[in-house]
Amino acid sequence: MLNKAKIAVLVSGGGTNLQALIDAQNEGKIKSGEIVLVVSNNSDAFALTRAEKAGIKTAVVSKKELGAQKFEEKLVEVLTENGIELIILAGFMCILSESFTSRYPKRIINVHPSLIPSFCGEGFYGLRVHEAALKYGVKVTGATVHFVNEIPDGGEIILQRAVEIKDGDTPEVLQRRVMEEAEWHLLPEAAELVSAEIIKER
Ligand code: GAR
Repeated sequence: MLNKAKIAVLVSGGGTNLQALIDAQNEGKIKSGEIVLVVSNNSDAFALTRAEKAGIKTAVVSKKELGAQKFEEKLVEVLTENGIELIILAGFMCILSESFTSRYPKRIINVHPSLIPSFCGEGFYGLRVHEAALKYGVKVTGATVHFVNEIPDGGEIILQRAVEIKDGDTPEVLQRRVMEEAEWHLLPEAAELVSAEIIKER
């Protein structure tokens, strides 16, 4: 369908959330959007291999090589060239500045592995989030998909799901449960919701 919203997924690492998006797309669960580009800030990210296997175009834009400002300028260039309408941050470990986020109001979404506003903001990413939840001793955690604005993890919440913490959990075990029970479901669902909105507003 020509009408679909063009999606770029931004990644940094293993890309299990990217895989969940690809699988959902193949299963027809993302009807209103199509992943046309995967961008990584890290050329070694396994997520890039997942994209290539799925036949999706990839690009590497390195913050280390370019520096913060040129990095964002290059990102905008690549996204514009590819006609991207929705940007999905799926394990993308770079904080984007206001000059970037303000270009795409309600068009960037992020998955975060906790129930925002707990264990979020600068310094809370990946395994660190689960370490913090276990250290605090909360009994319930989860995942959140939210719009991205200039405040790290501060944009409007789109979807959230709770996940139980069990006795003896390690950060790794908890991370996996949060992915399996929450992230891999919520992110494709949110991708469809926002893509449908984009099509409606065209
Ligand atoms: C996921 O748990 C994601 O929620 C988290 O990093 C992991 C990436 O895994 N993102 C953040 O912490 C962002 N603040 P993946 O590369 O396998 O999708």
